[in-house]
Amino acid sequence: MKSTLEQTLLSAIRTIPDYPKPGVLFRDITTMLGDARAFRRAVDELVHPWAGTKIDKIAGIEARGFILGGAVAHQMSAGFVPIRKKGKLPHDTVRVAYSLEYGIDEMEMHKDAIAPGERVILIDDLIATGGTAEAAVKLLKQMGAVIEAACFVIDLPDLGGRAKIEALGVPVHTLISFD
Ligand code: PRP
Ligand code: ADE
Repeated sequence: MKSTLEQTLLSAIRTIPDYPKPGVLFRDITTMLGDARAFRRAVDELVHPWAGTKIDKIAGIEARGFILGGAVAHQMSAGFVPIRKKGKLPHDTVRVAYSLEYGIDEMEMHKDAIAPGERVILIDDLIATGGTAEAAVKLLKQMGAVIEAACFVIDLPDLGGRAKIEALGVPVHTLISFD
């Protein structure tokens, strides 16, 4: 039986078939973001296990991780650090390549965004293959961050992302899954 949290989120997230290409069921969180109750619940529950823990920075992955991560950072009285696709950040960056379904891309963060030893939580809307989150974890580790956890609203467990991130020694917390 589904919890009320799961019911709230599952009914607030819209599925778009064949987007961005045939065969993909795209899990669209814009409907959840537009639902005040569901949005608040998601933000509360994403970092609930770390309530009372001192977290220095929330790192959010472009683009939907910015929306959730900004709200979480405010709630936890933590700073916010954007992890972006290459070429978008204005100051000196660290960069890492990661695999996409077709070819590779690169992600960056500012070199001075995190001091060694700072405690960081990584946030995104969804984990699928885990390639994006893996790249973000590599960047954060390069900066000497202590990564407390990686938190996502949605897990697509068939694609194996959770195991990939846990193998890097980072606990993964997700709220709902779509098989
Ligand atoms: C989506 C999602 C994650 C990523 C997960 O972003 O927001 O960042 O895919 O996929 P993975 O676990 O297989 O790496 P997307 O690539 O659509 O970019 P966008 O948020 O900039 O649209
Ligand atoms: N990123 C990777 N797979 C996705 C999916 N099915 N829905 C939304 N974002 C995704």
